[in-house]
Amino acid sequence: MEKVKILGICGSPRDASTMIGLRAALEEAEKWGAETELISLRGKKINPCIACDKCLREGSLKCCVWKDDMTELYDKWYEADGVIVASPVYLMAPTAQTMAFFHRFRSFWLKSEKDPDFFNRKIGAAISCGGTRNGGEETTNQVILNALSSFGITLVNGGIGTYTGACLWSDNNRYGANDDEIGLFNCRKVGRKVAVMAQYMKAGVEQLGIKGDEGAGTGIEMEALKDK
Ligand SMILES: Cc1cc2nc3c(=O)[nH]c(=O)nc-3n(C[C@H](O)[C@H](O)[C@H](O)COP(=O)(O)O)c2cc1C
Repeated sequence: MEKVKILGICGSPRDASTMIGLRAALEEAEKWGAETELISLRGKKINPCIACDKCLREGSLKCCVWKDDMTELYDKWYEADGVIVASPVYLMAPTAQTMAFFHRFRSFWLKSEKDPDFFNRKIGAAISCGGTRNGGEETTNQVILNALSSFGITLVNGGIGTYTGACLWSDNNRYGANDDEIGLFNCRKVGRKVAVMAQYMKAGVEQLGIKGDEGAGTGIEMEALKDK
């Protein structure tokens, strides 16, 4: 079996504590047999979705209105066997960068038209990093998990004790996460679990060869859109 690919998305505008946590998770995922890639949204120009629905009308899996730094990220997301999305906590929620990234997948569900299990086969998890110990890390992780769940991605945490995923604390210090041993331990647990579960999933799919019914995805919604 080919190695599974785990994609890490960092929604921080800085190369700082959230990156420290995500790197720890991806290093652990590699130890457990995965290939990894870390994409930082820092400095990337990702315009917000304007709900024009052009992508849906044209049957495009990518936004066809904005040609910005999002364009090159679609294929990486669609090709990954597992994804770990990490965000700083801003007002107890993910950053605007993280949410803009998610929102730009307006037409993702077109993938499920031909292959209803396309996103079900992916494993996804969340990491957050707050400046205070209980500053909204869990609520931030929950928003990330909600977004991953909207795709239909199979959600995991890091195992017992990690609940919504890993919660890091930077103590409002740019590289403070380096001192959060428990938070980093939980990031590694998330990395391990995503890598292992992605391998179970890939091996299971290869072994069982289960295929979704073509057209059993979201055709009804597409028909409805054509009238608009
Ligand atoms: C606009 C803004 C809002 C923030 N809101 C929160 C918050 O609600 N809770 C919290 O614990 N920390 C909050 N913080 C602190 C960041 O979560 C913290 O500094 C974190 O380490 C940032 O991640 P980074 O080091 O990867 O940039 C906020 C920071 C900013 C800039």
